[in-house]
Order: sequence, then structure tokens, then C-alpha cells
Amino acid sequence: MKGRTKIFNLNTKDAGNKIVVMGWVRTFRKSKNVSFVSLNDGSTINSLQVVLDMNKFDEKIIDNINTGSSLRVEGELVKSSGKNQKYELLGDNIVILGKSNPDTYPIQPKKHSFEFLREVAHLRPRTNTFSSIFRIRHACTFAIHKFFNDRGFVNIHTPIITSSDAEGAGEMFKVTSLDLDNISGKMVDYSKDFFSKPVSLTVSGQLNAELGALALSDVYTFGPTFRAENSNTSKHLAEFWMIEPEMAFYDIDDNMDLAEEMLKYIIKYVLDNCNSDLIFLENLELDSERNLPQIKRNENPLIYRLKQVVNNKFIRVRYDEAFKILSNSKQNKKGKFKFKIDEWGIDFQSEHERYLVEKHFKNPVIVCDYPKKIKAFYMRSNDDGRTVAAMDVLFPAVGEIIGGSQREERLDMLERRMQEMNVSKKELSWYLDTRRFGTVKHSGFGLGLERLVQFITGMKNIRDVIPFPRTPGSCNY
Ligand code: 4AD
Ligand code: MG
Repeated sequence: MKGRTKIFNLNTKDAGNKIVVMGWVRTFRKSKNVSFVSLNDGSTINSLQVVLDMNKFDEKIIDNINTGSSLRVEGELVKSSGKNQKYELLGDNIVILGKSNPDTYPIQPKKHSFEFLREVAHLRPRTNTFSSIFRIRHACTFAIHKFFNDRGFVNIHTPIITSSDAEGAGEMFKVTSLDLDNISGKMVDYSKDFFSKPVSLTVSGQLNAELGALALSDVYTFGPTFRAENSNTSKHLAEFWMIEPEMAFYDIDDNMDLAEEMLKYIIKYVLDNCNSDLIFLENLELDSERNLPQIKRNENPLIYRLKQVVNNKFIRVRYDEAFKILSNSKQNKKGKFKFKIDEWGIDFQSEHERYLVEKHFKNPVIVCDYPKKIKAFYMRSNDDGRTVAAMDVLFPAVGEIIGGSQREERLDMLERRMQEMNVSKKELSWYLDTRRFGTVKHSGFGLGLERLVQFITGMKNIRDVIPFPRTPGSCNY
């Protein structure tokens, strides 16, 4: 906007300049002669201190400067002698853009719990914590597009309404235009529905992304994903964002290389571009851990943890080896896992993933070659007949951050798997066409954006890294 300067653009070199800023009042310290407004416009964690000579302003203006109100301030930027800021604004002219009632405004200038802020999610971006998180989330999004664009990937927009259950987990939200209020107990007649058949919100864009890869070589999707699993945990959302690259001619090792390179790239981008937000979040975490026993604290501060991931090679192990490590662990033998590791073939739970990453290897881990019976139909069978070329990237604090695989490109093998797993060949005949005509080795994976943002910001609950979380029993705003 012409004439207005965003606060993130200011620096001491601008001292002496007349500027206009706009933003929301965080605090107002009023006294007889000189008062101080802390103004934030969301462009940076740093609020701008506006100094007011009280003799210059009439009561009408002063009375409406309150926590939460919005202002336009014109004045001269000057070097500050205060210890908290390098420069400040000498307010000359103030326009009250929007009034606020400081008594009923939910975001008071004090510490609020994350639980409380979730209840006022429409206003929580006005806090330092949440504006930092959403700026970092944006930086991740931008870095992801840049990473793929720089490598010649094509962004494919895959459908949100779909008739196929890509993951075969049956955890889909149905989409209908039928009048549900007027359906009696009888079977639903889907031929009367909008698409003349049952359809749902997508759980993954992968099957469509594969079609793209088998024409454009390297593609990726980046879109909302929906899962109706009733998991009321700190790592699950009913609506989350997933990035799914799909690459022709890649095998599982190429796939792991790309996943590792991408994660390091995004984290490095945030380290390089979101420094003040990270410092803020690191201090917030240190503060909140101050009174906790050692065992409940993070071993290292946030920024150190991010650098560790960027600077160290991820450990790669097969499921077989991970299974042995877990079943032989003291934790398992002493019955300290909620889910005991006893039989080869069981799926790992979050507690097992975190044991591998946080206790055993102390490093991100990629587990590959999982038992075929716990993985989806599209994963490529290994020659041993009992495992598939799957890979999960496991991170500290969040556990599984990426799931992916080399895809079964052999038509006969794929059809056999579909048969075994009750996946309709008729429904997916379009998918099978890529194996019928010019099939090639290919691989891909899915990164959960919120899990990544959780790791980068250190937030404990996934509901705090998406602006408007959807979870069982909760869909507001
Ligand atoms: O492991 P998932 O289920 O893999 C797929 O959907 C594949 N089709 C991906 C592919 O190969 N193209 O999910 C991928 C990632 C998980 O590792 C996790 O980070 C995230 O998506 N995720 C969730 N994030 C938040 N809430 C949920 N309910 C999630 N379910 C999966
Ligand atoms: Mg998975």
C-alpha cells in the first residue's frame, strides 16, 4: 500500500524519516506527559514502540488507544535510548481505525494458556506465539514450492472430491448433496446423489500424482487432506496439509535421498529466514520448561535441534533391524511400552518411533522395507515376498513425519496385491492403465506439513500449528 511502511521493513537507517505505520495495539502505557504504545502489524515479531507527547493529542484519541484497537500512526522514526529497541516512532498524527474494548477483548497483555487460545482461535494470530508460528508455516510452504520448482518438478492440483480410497484405510468423510435430514432408515440411493455414486474427501493425492509422474516425470501435490480417523492425539488432525512428490525412474533409495534433502532444505530455509521468530519460540520453550524436572525438558534448545537435523545424515534401517532394536530394548523387556513389541510384522506406534529416534539413534531415522501386511496395496513387493519397498521418516518429538514408497509398477504383481487386499480393479482401471502403457519404476512420499511445523516450532500440540484445527468433535470458525 502506498505510503505505509510495514514494521519488518524498518531499521535504524530510517531514523530521521517521516513514516506511516498501521497495526494493532498490544499495550498502552499511559502517563501524564509521555505515553508508550506497543504497535504490532504482524509482519514481524517485533512491535514498534510509538512515543506520544500527551500534550499533542486530545482525549478522544487517547481514550480509544486500547489493547486490541487498530491505529494509523504518522511520525518521525528516531533512534531509541531504551534497552528494548533500537528505534521508536515519535507519533505526530494518530487515526483510530478500529476501536476495541479492553475489558472484553480476549487477548489480554499477559500469558494465556494454549488451551485457552484454542478457544479464541479467531484472535490468537494477534499473539506473538501464533503470529510466529504462522509466519514460519508460510516460510515452510514457500520453501517447499521453491525446492521443487528449482528441481524442475511440476505442481499438480489433485482432486479433493474423490471416489477412491488411496490408503485403503476406510477413514473417509463422505460428500453428498442428498438431504440428510430427510433420509429415513433405508439404504441410501447413491444414484440420486450429485455424482451418481458415493464419493468422499481425499485422504491422499498420490494415485492422481502417479498419473502426473508417468507423463511429466517429476510432480508434486500440495493440498488439504482429510481423515476421519477418531484419533484424539496431539499429532492428528481431521484436516491437514500434505505435500506429495512423485518421481518417475526413482527407486526407494532415490526416494529416501530426496526426502532427506527436502526436509533439510526446508529447515535450513526457516533457520535462514525466520531467525527472530525462532529465537522467540526457543525462549518461550525454555521458559515453559524452567520448572519441569530434567527428564521432561528438551535435551537441547530449539535452534540447536534444528541445526542438528540439517547437519547430520539421517540413519537408515530396515524394519527387521528396527524390530530387533525395539524388541531387545530395556523399555520393551521391562514392559514400559504401552504396545509390546513381540511379533514380527506389527506396526510401530508413536512411542516406538520416538524410542528409535530420541533414545537409540538420537537422530532422524528412515525405516524401510516394512512387512507388506501393514502397508498399502500400491507399494512395491520386495523379492523376499514378505516386505514392501516402503519408507517412513521418523523425527524427534513428532515421530512419523513422512510416509512413502517405491510403487508397484508391474501390472501382474499390482493386480495380485489388489486382489489380496480387496481393492477394486474396476474402480481403479485408470490407475492400472499407467502400468499397462509404458510403465516405469517410480516412487514418492507424503510429508505432513503440520508435523513438520510442529517440529520446527517446538509446539507440543498439532492444533497449535494450523490456523483453524479440525479434530473429533471440534469444527469452529
Ligand atoms: O503415511 P501416510 O498415510 O501416507 C500417504 O498418505 C501416502 N499416500 C503418501 C505418499 O506416498 N504420497 O501420510 C503421510 C504423512 C504422515 O507421515 C504424516 O506426516 C501425515 O501425512 N499425516 C497426518 N498429519 C496430521 N494428521 C493426520 N491425521 C495425519 N495422517 C497422516
Ligand atoms: Mg504412514
